[in-house]
Order: sequence, then C-alpha cells, then structure tokens
Amino acid sequence: MNKKHNDEWAVEARGLVKLFGDNRAVDGVDLNVRSGSIYGVLGPNGAGKTTTIRMLATLLRPDAGEARIFGHDVVKESHIVRQLIGVTGQYASVDESLSATENLIIFSRLLGLGSAEARRKASDLLEEFGLTEAAKRPLKHFSGGMRRRLDLAASLIAQPPLIFLDEPTTGLDPRTRSQMWDTIRRLVDTGSTVLLTTQYLDEADQLADRIAVIDRGQVVAEGTVDDLKGSVGTSALNLRVDQEQDIAYAREIVEQVLDVRASVTAEAGKITSPLTDPDQVTDLLVALRNRGIRLTEISVQKPTLDEVFLTITGQGGNENNIGPKISESSKRAEEVRV
Ligand SMILES: Nc1ncnc2c1ncn2[C@@H]1O[C@H](COP(=O)(O)OP(=O)(O)O)[C@@H](O)[C@H]1O
Ligand SMILES: [Mg+2]
Repeated sequence: MNKKHNDEWAVEARGLVKLFGDNRAVDGVDLNVRSGSIYGVLGPNGAGKTTTIRMLATLLRPDAGEARIFGHDVVKESHIVRQLIGVTGQYASVDESLSATENLIIFSRLLGLGSAEARRKASDLLEEFGLTEAAKRPLKHFSGGMRRRLDLAASLIAQPPLIFLDEPTTGLDPRTRSQMWDTIRRLVDTGSTVLLTTQYLDEADQLADRIAVIDRGQVVAEGTVDDLKGSVGTSALNLRVDQEQDIAYAREIVEQVLDVRASVTAEAGKITSPLTDPDQVTDLLVALRNRGIRLTEISVQKPTLDEVFLTITGQGGNENNIGPKISESSKRAEEVRV
C-alpha cells in the first residue's frame, strides 16, 4: 500500500447522515475498517447499506458527518479517494452490445494495461469466474448472476487498495456464491481491504473479521462475529456518559454489574452492552451514580440480534423479500433521557 496514505484505517466514518426528503436513509453511521481486513455491513433491504457505501465511495455527498479513506476525506479529497477504491454493485459493463471479453478488455485498457496483457487478464478472469463459455456473448443476454460475477471480475483488474462490494452474492446460486467468497478472500490475501454489504448472516460469518449490523440507517451492533454471537439472545443496552474521560471506568462498571463484556465506542462517549435481565439496569444505574458517573442517555434495544439474524438466515437465497419484516421487529428501542 502506498506509504503516504494512512495505513492503519481503510475507512473511518463518523456520524454519516444522508437524507432523501424526510427519510433519514443513513442516520449517524460510524464505521472503522482496519486495513487488510474484510468488514461486513449486515442489514435488511432498505437499511441504508448502499447509501452508506455510495457516500464512502464519493458517489453521494453526506448531509452530515465525515469519512476518510486511508486518511483522505471523501468530500475534500475525493479525487484521491477515487484512486484508492473500487466499487462494484453497479454494472461494470461499458457496452451492453459487447461481449464479456470485450468489456473486460476495454476496462483493462482504460486502466492502462497493454493490449496483450488486457487480453490475457480478460481470459484469466472469465475462466476464474466460470464465464468462459459465455465470454463471447453480448452482455445484454447475461443473467443477473453472470453480470455480478463479471462485475467483480472487472474490479479485480485494477485491484485497488479498498474494494466496496455491495451485496456481492445476493441472488447467486450456492456454488457461485462460494466461488465468490474464495475470490474475496484472495483479494484480501493479496493486500486489499474489502468492505462488503450483505443480507446474510452466514456470509458475514464466513468472510468478515468485523461486522456492523445496520438497520434503518443506524448501526445497531458492531464487533467481531464472536462478539455479535455473544450478544444474540439478549437485548442491547446503550449508555452515553456525560464526561468522555469517564468512559473506561464506566465500562468497567458495566462489565462488573452485568457480568458481560461491553463493546465501547469511545469516540461517541457511548457504551453498548448485551443485557440479559432488564432488572440489572437498576443495579447498574445505582452503581454508576455511586461512582459519580453521569449519563446523558440510556436506551434498551429490543429485540435481539437473533431475531434479526434468524429472519435473515431463515429466508434462504431469495433476494429482496425480507426487509420489512426485519425492520419492523428490530425497531422497538425505548429511549429514556436522563
Ligand atoms: N436515490 C434515492 N432517492 C430516494 N430514496 C432513496 C434513494 N436511495 C435509497 N433511498 C432510500 O433510502 C433507504 C436506504 O436505502 P439503501 O441504502 O438502498 O438500503 P440497502 O442498500 O440497505 O437496501 C431506503 O428507504 C431507500 O428507499
Ligand atoms: Mg443496497
């Protein structure tokens, strides 16, 4: 990776907001993606995944918040950011009437490869993605799954340091899906960072080092797969401390009283913890008060991730038909200002 870029964080986003009319499509999203990792943004249809990616990829201007890609601001330094990223999820095609091979060759040439190299690259990629037989067919006769594979293939030509994959496997058959997973892993093995969105828990589980679960424009859970699995079956307790310097101490108290490992988003002064027994909240509030820690906000989020996950994973490979149900069930947050 280029040394003049911030090497540790591929993505640092704070409080990203995007409004469409009065729809808060993205409503204060924080994301931190470590370089060299696979990060999964998991959420139902309409959660705000694509909108988030489009802001990170400089395709859409945030209404609030900020984001950096390898240290470069997506708004102020968009020209640099664009050189560091690849986005798939839209059609990669240059021309629908051209064949898959021709499209990939044109792509390669646009990226500065020589003619022979472009030809070789195109044929290697088509083979890898099981598209060799369809190589000569015009794109307009391609199925959705074939397009998606071609789309990812095109993004591999340049292999930028950060690759956004927007639902790379939605609607694919299982075999192609696992092929896709292998390719994504290889991208990371060879130095790229991948941020992918998915509606499938198992995909996030298979691939992602960390996951953000997003619903109605907000991150409702974040952590490693193990962290998230640990919180399945419980509610989530969110606390915001008044004094940011109290956060480490407050976290200790949360861990002691609730007997869990709390995940802390320190920048926001916010602590999130699984909560198995609502009665414990009283004990926790007393303990925090006794130690002089003031809260500005406390909320308990029901339901649990497992409901969300179960609904997602229980639906098999059908595209686009699972959103509303999940959104309904995952939105029973109760907020109390203190
Ligand atoms: N260009 C747009 N204009 C108006 N509303 C949009 C637009 N794009 C997305 N939305 C709305 O924003 C919300 C989030 O959409 P999206 O980011 O596409 O979710 P996801 O990718 O998680 O399915 C949805 O309510 C969607 O209808
Ligand atoms: Mg989307």
